[in-house]
Amino acid sequence: MRLLIDDADMGEIRRLYDLYPIDGVTTNPSILAKTGREPYDVLKEIRGFIGREADLHVQAIAMDAEGMVRDAQAIVKAFGEATFVKIPCIPEGFKAMKLLKTQGIRTTGTAIYTPMQAYLAAKSGASYAAPYINRIDDMGYDGIHVTKEIQDILAANRFGTMVLAASFKNSQQVLELCKYGVGGATVAPAVMDKFVNHAAVTAAVDVFVKDFENLAGEGTTMAELLKG
Ligand code: E4P
Repeated sequence: MRLLIDDADMGEIRRLYDLYPIDGVTTNPSILAKTGREPYDVLKEIRGFIGREADLHVQAIAMDAEGMVRDAQAIVKAFGEATFVKIPCIPEGFKAMKLLKTQGIRTTGTAIYTPMQAYLAAKSGASYAAPYINRIDDMGYDGIHVTKEIQDILAANRFGTMVLAASFKNSQQVLELCKYGVGGATVAPAVMDKFVNHAAVTAAVDVFVKDFENLAGEGTTMAELLKG
């Protein structure tokens, strides 16, 4: 499962890239708005930091298919071919995905709340289908269940499209989809920080360090002990 950061804050992106095996960054207009910066500057900086091969997802803004195609062409020109253009899964969006497929521009069907949207995105040639788990939960449905159904539909129809699960509220939801073998998860920094958040783990590591220090002296590391 690919693991992406769902945020545009450069401080957070740098911090999480430093710690974890991250495959890329996803943004949407609301995420860009949170930075309070010029969208072009932010996206350029993200691309420069993650490198030109890493996945970057940037959303088209136009509401009609022709406008979405123009947005997509501009996005790929500005941020490189490893950029997936997020297209909302509305009727004009499916038309845009079909057109972009013929142009070799890769798309992510976004704003997915139902399996039918994901099916249509896949059939229209999207590389990814992005269901919004937390938002589906908030509507009174089961976001994880809907996402698993989407995964099953993509597999049963042998679409090349992968699930890029989005809108998580806790790390257990991420793990649940990891077990199910979805293609990717894009996760906000606050949720990623909960991936390893157990007092028992910290306590175990502290005991190891203390035991070693009792043996070799306070503050002594293996590098110091073995430097010869
Ligand atoms: C990502 O592709 C989505 O735009 C995003 O995850 C939505 O997340 P939210 O529901 O936390 O805003």
